[in-house]
Amino acid sequence: MNALTGKHIVLGLSGGIACYKAAELARLLVKAGATVQVVMTEAAEHFITAVTLQALTGRAVATSQWDMREPNAMAHINLSREADAILIAPCSADFIARLAQGRSDELLSLLCVARPIERVPLLLAPAMNREMWAHPATQRNLMQAVADGAVSLGVGCGEQACGETGDGRMLEPAEILEELEAFFTPKWLASERVLITAGPTFEAIDPVRGITNHSSGKMGFAIARAAREAGAQVTLVAGPVHLPTPRGVARVDVHSAQNMLETVEQHVATATLFIATAAVADWRPAAVALHKLKKDGSGAVPQLSFVENPDILAQVAASARARHGQLYCVGFAAESEDLLANASAKRKRKGVPLLVGNIGPATFGQDDNALLLVDEAGAQELPRASKRELGRTLVQQIAERLRSRR
Ligand code: C5P
Repeated sequence: MNALTGKHIVLGLSGGIACYKAAELARLLVKAGATVQVVMTEAAEHFITAVTLQALTGRAVATSQWDMREPNAMAHINLSREADAILIAPCSADFIARLAQGRSDELLSLLCVARPIERVPLLLAPAMNREMWAHPATQRNLMQAVADGAVSLGVGCGEQACGETGDGRMLEPAEILEELEAFFTPKWLASERVLITAGPTFEAIDPVRGITNHSSGKMGFAIARAAREAGAQVTLVAGPVHLPTPRGVARVDVHSAQNMLETVEQHVATATLFIATAAVADWRPAAVALHKLKKDGSGAVPQLSFVENPDILAQVAASARARHGQLYCVGFAAESEDLLANASAKRKRKGVPLLVGNIGPATFGQDDNALLLVDEAGAQELPRASKRELGRTLVQQIAERLRSRR
């Protein structure tokens, strides 16, 4: 299950080169469990054929309010009453102007005006040349459309089909999907400020070498995404990982455990929830060599000595705000055996109300996982599922615990 399962989305395409991305978007929406009814303007049909979108969605594309196949001849009413949301992607400068004016002389703008405004949200993914986007008329029209109840998902920045570079590109299909999922997610964590650590740390030996581990950061990133979807303001402190930042999440990249601790200390004062998923190195080399350690051919090997890293979670959990209930702390434990006993012991040792156990070797780098939630009431299993799904379930579980404390 995800936020889009069973939702019926009317996907409107207005004219623009980004129409080619709408095909991928339609596919992603269907894959996420939504039914998708495509409606195209005449301009959109110059950029992509209705056949493509029909094949991807399994539904005939609607293009005209004069389509005599509709038994009641009221396509605009039928389409807008069935929808859980109307998403215009791409939304051209012209289409924004039409919305601002409440025009209704073609099917797509007609059904936007005809939608039950309280029940059927209208989401816009604008797409146009940067000059068109920056034009005062476009910005004025968009403000008007938003004032009239539309939600703008914003635009991307970068190279444009016209060869220019700047703001105005349509968001990537995956980004639009992320926005839509967030839109439909209940706001379990509204008004919470969440700080999350994720990924491994990297402890330098010399300028080119270091010690790290196999943590991929996927679980922490999934939780960050789920927390943002649930309405929280999220800061993600990430060790060296190759993962895209979830939309709407503020990310700070760090390397070493000490780095991570300093960054956490900078942000934790305003947080209401701290979730430590990072696989922080327990030890670091006692000294970092200034220059690369050289092999001299004699067979001599460097003698490394180590010092212990600070325990970030234990330190945060021992802070006054955590002890006074203003900051709820969640720890993770990657174990190789006897999960319940080890996770329970770790919960007490770290001084956190909730500890989430998983079997380390079975989860590092994988896209799925199984979790064991251990708190004062006992243990609860979250069976094997994608990390994305587990992130969402865990966020709900944490939200329930927060509610019962307040
Ligand atoms: O002691 P252990 O590493 O097994 O504890 C795991 C939990 O503690 C995780 O939540 C991890 O993010 C956190 N941790 C930390 N700082 C450390 C070591 C672990 O925040 N130095």
